Order: sequence, then structure tokens, then C-alpha cells
Amino acid sequence: MISFFKSKAFLKDLIPTGFVDIHSHLLFGIDDGAKTSEDTKFLLESMLALGFGKIITTPHTTPYIWDNTKDMIVDKYEEVKVVLPELTQSVSLRVASEYLMDDSFSQRIQSERLLTLQGDYVLVEMSYINPPIQLFDILFELKSAGYQIVLAHPERYNFYHNNLEIYKKLKKVGCLFQLNLLSVTGYYGSKVAETAEYLLKSAMIDFVGSDIHHSNHIKGFESKLKIKDKLPLVEAFAANKIFDI
Ligand SMILES: [Fe+2]
Repeated sequence: MISFFKSKAFLKDLIPTGFVDIHSHLLFGIDDGAKTSEDTKFLLESMLALGFGKIITTPHTTPYIWDNTKDMIVDKYEEVKVVLPELTQSVSLRVASEYLMDDSFSQRIQSERLLTLQGDYVLVEMSYINPPIQLFDILFELKSAGYQIVLAHPERYNFYHNNLEIYKKLKKVGCLFQLNLLSVTGYYGSKVAETAEYLLKSAMIDFVGSDIHHSNHIKGFESKLKIKDKLPLVEAFAANKIFDI
């Protein structure tokens, strides 16, 4: 057991049986993920082969870029289930959205019920360039509206890499953190891997997600881990079980 946790493993070897993934871009043609139904098929088959047991896919809701509405996302989900009936059943495909927290997001919180991962858990992200000026107001509004906030890939926001204290502040106001699995392989660079390791070591990671968009992300699961201690990652993998309903 000790040697297992000390040796460098391949990411794919850590995927637990029946793993529930809560972040991906698999519905073709509605964001920067799968472009065609063939892409969707390839990604779902690959995830099934990797051992994923359930997939809650999360197309972007990103105003002006991926301007999806709830109806557009749900309609595409229904279409994918018709096109790939057996495969979508095998991976228990479900749908939610990854919402960009921008200037217009407060308005959306007030005007509609967001597509959640399950229950009140909503997946949100920030721009990679800078956080929204009113970030803490938005988080407060989400909490006030009864949502559990799941912040996508906190380790990928470069503007926080030299301000690690901000992560404690985000946790304090109720953010749950979803680590991107490929971050621990160095896929997004060494600084992201270091930040992922810091967050894992500090017990700040609540869940994990694949954030799979395309075949390179699938290949990334063949990579070795860059982090030393695997235990917090194994625990975070297991924590995703709460979404298995
Ligand atoms: Fe994403």
C-alpha cells in the first residue's frame, strides 16, 4: 500500500470503478468540445474504456462565445441520446452546464433556475484572463439563491498562482473546488501542476473532473502523475460518488 502511494502512477490507473465525472464537453456542436456526432461517440467510448461509470457532461454557457440557453443544451442532450442510444446508456450520460461568471451572470441567477450537476450543485468558472470584479457578490448571490457552488479548475487561474491566500477566502465563502484531472499530469504546465498539488495537500479539493473536450485530453490520461502524494487525489476521486444518484 505504501509503495502504491509513493510510486509515480499513470492517471488512468487511479480511476475508480464506476467513477462519476462531473465536467466535460461532449455534446457535439454547442461549444469548444466535440464538433461532430463522431467526436461525441469517440469521446464517450474512450471514457467508457477508461472506466468512467457515469458522465454528467457540462457544455459551456458563455455569453457572446458559447451563448447556449438551457433549452439548447437539453435539446442537444436529447439529440445525442437518440443518435447514440446504447452508448449514452452505458455511460449513464446526464447533462448540466459550466457557467461563466461574468457581468451578466447575476441577471441569469435571478431570472432562471440553473442547470445543476445534481440537486443544488452548480458548476461555475471564471475567465482565464481575470476574475470578474464583482466575484464575491456573484458568489453571495449564488449562495443566497440556494446553490452549492462548485468552482471549476481553481488551479488553472494563473492570476491566483502567486496569491494562494485567495483560495482560502473562496473556500470561506462556500466554494467547493473541482480539480481538473489532467492538471496533475502537467498537461496545462508546471505552475498549474504545482498549484494543483498545493490545493490537494491543503485538503481544499472537493471533487475532480476530466474537462474532456477532445482526443488529446483522452491521451492525457495515459500520462504519469507529476504530484508526489496520491492519497488526496484518490480521496477526491472517491468524493465524486455523491453525484451518483
Ligand atoms: Fe470546462
